[in-house]
Amino acid sequence: MVHSQQLSIHFPGKLVFANGVLPQLATDIIALHPTKILLVTIEPLIEKLQVFINQMHQENISVIIHTGINQEPSFQDFISLMEFVAPQNPDIIIGIGGGSVLDIAKLVAAQLGNEQQLKDYVGIGLLKGRAKKLVCIPTTAGTGSEVSPNAILVDNYDNQKKGIISPYLLPDMVYVDPTLTLSVPPAITAATGLDALTHCLEAYTNKFAHPFIDMYAIEGIRLIAANIVAAVKDGNNLEARSNIAMGSLLGGFCLGPVNTAGVHALSYPLGSMFHLSHGLSNALLLPYVMQYNLQADPQKYAQVAIALGCEKGATDLITAVLGVEKVKELIANCGIPARLHELGVTKASIPEMAAAAMKIQRLLKNNPRLIEEKDAIAIFESAF
Ligand SMILES: NC(=O)c1ccc[n+]([C@@H]2O[C@H](COP(=O)([O-])OP(=O)(O)OC[C@H]3O[C@@H](n4cnc5c(N)ncnc54)[C@H](O)[C@@H]3O)[C@@H](O)[C@H]2O)c1
Ligand SMILES: [Fe+2]
Repeated sequence: MVHSQQLSIHFPGKLVFANGVLPQLATDIIALHPTKILLVTIEPLIEKLQVFINQMHQENISVIIHTGINQEPSFQDFISLMEFVAPQNPDIIIGIGGGSVLDIAKLVAAQLGNEQQLKDYVGIGLLKGRAKKLVCIPTTAGTGSEVSPNAILVDNYDNQKKGIISPYLLPDMVYVDPTLTLSVPPAITAATGLDALTHCLEAYTNKFAHPFIDMYAIEGIRLIAANIVAAVKDGNNLEARSNIAMGSLLGGFCLGPVNTAGVHALSYPLGSMFHLSHGLSNALLLPYVMQYNLQADPQKYAQVAIALGCEKGATDLITAVLGVEKVKELIANCGIPARLHELGVTKASIPEMAAAAMKIQRLLKNNPRLIEEKDAIAIFESAF
């Protein structure tokens, strides 16, 4: 395994982690003296945001509210939103929602006042700048999108998820407030929490893992594994919610400098072909990709197992295998189905899914063990 000593990481301008951040958000926004702000959020949160919205109005700040993005946005969703927003030209873009909302808010902030069109900057490092201030507040825990340079959209042309990756997608201000995640329903708590666990796990075991990022990743694994079942079983458990929100944030910091690997690459076709959510797709594949990868770095997978809460076994490989069992146990205790066929995925589609996954080389290249098309087929079959 290559332990690259190179590290390139971009941080948001300001990061607040606290319960009840909305009063502070209001103070910070007022201090910027905007005339108009765009609030991209979701309908269930509008009531919680009403005091903030009223405060803006008292300061003569217009608030454009958009609640049209619910799940996994597409190119078309973005284009439609831009047609609505561009003529109004807000000064600050605030995303308050899950990864879907944050990704779209990041792109709106980057597109306003930019001569480039979306098609010009899909890919890595193609965006030339961002004119508008951007604030991100996650309400799932989660994608870590609030601190990542990534935004993901579904391309309506080929139904594939495409990444826009640029340091200009890092927000100016980020507020992580665990109380905003209290209303997330159990199934979404489970799927999003396992997505965050996957970010940490795929960064820690990454072919390009870095000791600096390992610190975030291993602590994220520990926090999420120890708290996810409690948060799924009792959504009002604020301590569990806080620990997972922190784990998700740590996972977000893993995404820019190191990023994910085989699990995320193989999960893309589950989203595009069977419309399974991002978190659920990752959760379904995580133990099987881990199983496939163990032999490439038993020592690191053993450290993962310890962080997951396993006892140390006689050898690293034995400990690492216990880690896979632990992940399966967490998934089961979160009420997530263990097998692809339970969610309508068909066996006949496996070759097509494997072929589609092979296109995600930007993530496959990070996997600690080479995954070729035949290996992807075998992994899908083991998860079936
Ligand atoms: N930019 C990145 O770095 C990055 C990383 C991973 C995933 N993603 C992308 O993020 C998207 C997934 O985001 P997600 O997993 O956070 O889910 P999501 O944003 O799609 O939200 C899932 C559901 O939860 C609801 N929801 C969100 N917060 C809620 C709350 N507080 N109370 C009640 N309901 C709430 C949403 O309305 C939605 O119905 C995907 O498009 C994925 O590709 C981006
Ligand atoms: Fe993810």
